[in-house]
Amino acid sequence: MTREEWLRITAALGAGAMLPKGLMAQLLADDELKSSHFGKDFVWGTATAAYQIEGAWNVDGKGESIWDNFTHRKGGKKIKTRENGDVACDFYNRYESDIELMKQMNIPAFRFSVAWSRVLPEGTGRVNQKGIDFYNQVIDKCLKEGVEPWVTCYHWDLPQALQDKGGWMNREILDWFGEYVDLCAKSFGDRVKNWMVFNEPMAFTGGGYLIGLHAPGIFGFSSFLKAVHHATMCHGVGGEILKEQVKNGNIGTTFSCAPIDAKTDHPLDMKAAVRADVLLNRMFVEPILGLGYPSKDLPYLRKLEKHMKADDERNMKFDFDFIGVQNYTRTVAKYLGVVPIINGINEPSKKLGDVTDMKWEVYPEGIYRILKQFAAYEGIKNLYVTENGVAFPDTVENNEVHDTKRVQFFKDYLKNVLRAKREGVNVKGYFVWSFMDNFEWAEGYRPRFGIVHNDFNTQKRIIKDSGKWFTKFLNS
Ligand code: GAL
Repeated sequence: MTREEWLRITAALGAGAMLPKGLMAQLLADDELKSSHFGKDFVWGTATAAYQIEGAWNVDGKGESIWDNFTHRKGGKKIKTRENGDVACDFYNRYESDIELMKQMNIPAFRFSVAWSRVLPEGTGRVNQKGIDFYNQVIDKCLKEGVEPWVTCYHWDLPQALQDKGGWMNREILDWFGEYVDLCAKSFGDRVKNWMVFNEPMAFTGGGYLIGLHAPGIFGFSSFLKAVHHATMCHGVGGEILKEQVKNGNIGTTFSCAPIDAKTDHPLDMKAAVRADVLLNRMFVEPILGLGYPSKDLPYLRKLEKHMKADDERNMKFDFDFIGVQNYTRTVAKYLGVVPIINGINEPSKKLGDVTDMKWEVYPEGIYRILKQFAAYEGIKNLYVTENGVAFPDTVENNEVHDTKRVQFFKDYLKNVLRAKREGVNVKGYFVWSFMDNFEWAEGYRPRFGIVHNDFNTQKRIIKDSGKWFTKFLNS
């Protein structure tokens, strides 16, 4: 069969049709990729997070968050560039023009998060009306411009007042989190229909409570295990409240995920890959689907039992409307007995493709593999790619940013999303990380993920070539 014949067949079959494995990747040329291939109900958007864009860290009654505290600690030493999110993209003051820019770029949906300490400065109790007002204004502006708001309840910025009581290590967080999500749902649920309880629990428990690279900067095993279990439980806590309070809501949560390959086919490397897969991809989603913690494949997780109460196993389960997958790269696992938890390490691939500013391999097939892996769970109804994107160095020339490599990245990854969709994976949307360059956590402002460039001195936004490409693609 010729390529042309296959093209005719695939065009006739349309999105969602089954194609033999491997075929899409060969078939679609760059100029053949169109947003219409994904179907007219497919949701397209860009994603951000409160701490990374808002700034105004102590303005209008906002309380301190663990990220404020962490970045200010020891003269900023915790962050590679000694920077912080005090001002970030100044979205707090510039949300109107930013949302207008989204409309100008024809971007249908905007994912952002609520800063817990802006609405509840002490974490619980006293509500900061000015914080509620801010998110109301953001939501109303979105709706006015025809940009659909997608809200994440928790994107890593716990109120410091709660961290002072143990944060995610303290089981009381089940109540604290419930109070916070209830406030969000009651305040915004009349207009916001799409919700995500968490952004990447593995990232904030692993980064914050195991290796200490992220806020609150704790290094330890018992802190990690407690944080994992309480975060797992809070999926149901938050999900239940949102389901109850938001009429016709689309309630989900998001996970960081990366396909894992063993470095060699030696059984020890293969086993290390299985354990890494549990830790990075399976540990949070499986208990939520009612499958319990996957401790059979990662015996270390048996230690979680110490932190579990009688009904926990049952209450960990929650029936989400969708799961958001967030994929950037892949992981290659190698056995190393001395390493705790997985007895292995993750290494860059030997077949390393292009490497990003985060030192991550560009591996477009990874998003296809992850979508297939998650779609294989019976309990997942719908999938969205709630984050995907890339940091490459950018230069501004005559008010333009020619980020050719980023454009290519999106094309290659999107072809793989389409490939999964055409093989029957129920993927219903895709969000670019990120709308604009922003504060990249422990890396500071150096890695630029935006499709809109930001000059952090002047706060001038410039639509990059990738942003222009995305607009054109959305119209195709
Ligand atoms: C994700 C995270 C985002 C962003 C992105 C790029 O893990 O949710 O906040 O930082 O990675 O590194």
